[in-house]
Amino acid sequence: MSAQVVQSVAEVQRALDGIRAAGRVIGLVPTMGALHAGHGRLMEVARSECGCVVASIFVNRIQFDRADDYDRYPRTLTPDVEFCAERGVDIVFAPSVEEMYARPQRAFVEVERLTEHLCGRFRPGHFRGVATVVLKLLNIVRPGRAYFGEKDAQQLAVIRRMVADFNVPVEIVEVPTVRDADGLALSSRNQLLSVEERRIAPVLIRALRTAQGLVAAGATDADAVRCEAARVFEGRPEVRVEYLEIVDPEEMQPVARIEGRVRIAGAIWIGKTRLIDNLLCVPAGSSR
Ligand code: PAJ
Repeated sequence: MSAQVVQSVAEVQRALDGIRAAGRVIGLVPTMGALHAGHGRLMEVARSECGCVVASIFVNRIQFDRADDYDRYPRTLTPDVEFCAERGVDIVFAPSVEEMYARPQRAFVEVERLTEHLCGRFRPGHFRGVATVVLKLLNIVRPGRAYFGEKDAQQLAVIRRMVADFNVPVEIVEVPTVRDADGLALSSRNQLLSVEERRIAPVLIRALRTAQGLVAAGATDADAVRCEAARVFEGRPEVRVEYLEIVDPEEMQPVARIEGRVRIAGAIWIGKTRLIDNLLCVPAGSSR
């Protein structure tokens, strides 16, 4: 199998015009490359639901709050294209920075409230950059469906809200987080971890699972659940916890009492690498 690699906006639109006219549903999987099985799952789900699958690969400068993170971000286009082809992607849209931002970007998408906590608090401008590039990609590709991972739950909530508030005619599809055997969520950043750091990294999912277990067993005091979960990090000086929060799944606001479904989300630093993860927590007997 081979995928068509397209670098310009005009070319991808030309390639898709005929497909759209033929009535095939276009599925878009936006990525920043350095592809792994998590991205692969998005592509497989898109493949099973759409007549034409487009994956975009673009390391989006405007969503990085730190220049060194942008510089260190892995870039592996050749194996990425191969990876896409193996998963049945029809078109890989891999624009240059000049192609995506031909002129200085003056219009930005700001999603209020949902970006106040979690990553939004610690990465100023991050979600503005994400929402802006995703809206550009949706307008360029005009897919019927676009696929995003639960791994980045706040991002997913922000994109859902942008699409709803701007009446963007696309269905947003959520794909569950793909994990390594020890529970670590797959991430392009995992490859930046040393062997020792990689060994420690599953501490994050252990903390989240502790919280999930407590909620399932009937705990309702969010602070108590958070504190108990945070104990998993004790005796781990290599790990710096950036946040560990329990929020409502739509507006991503911290909750005090757990009465329905909530999301526990965490971000930790191990050395120079930042890892995030989250889990949905369902209280015992909850149907909400
Ligand atoms: P990136 O980090 O490359 O992730 C692309 C998509 O893959 C996102 O929807 C993300 O949630 C999903 N993903 C990553 N790891 C996953 C895992 N372990 N399991 C399931 N899905 C996973 O997220 C971005 O890029 C960018 O912000 C982007 C949306 C492309 C905008 O620039």
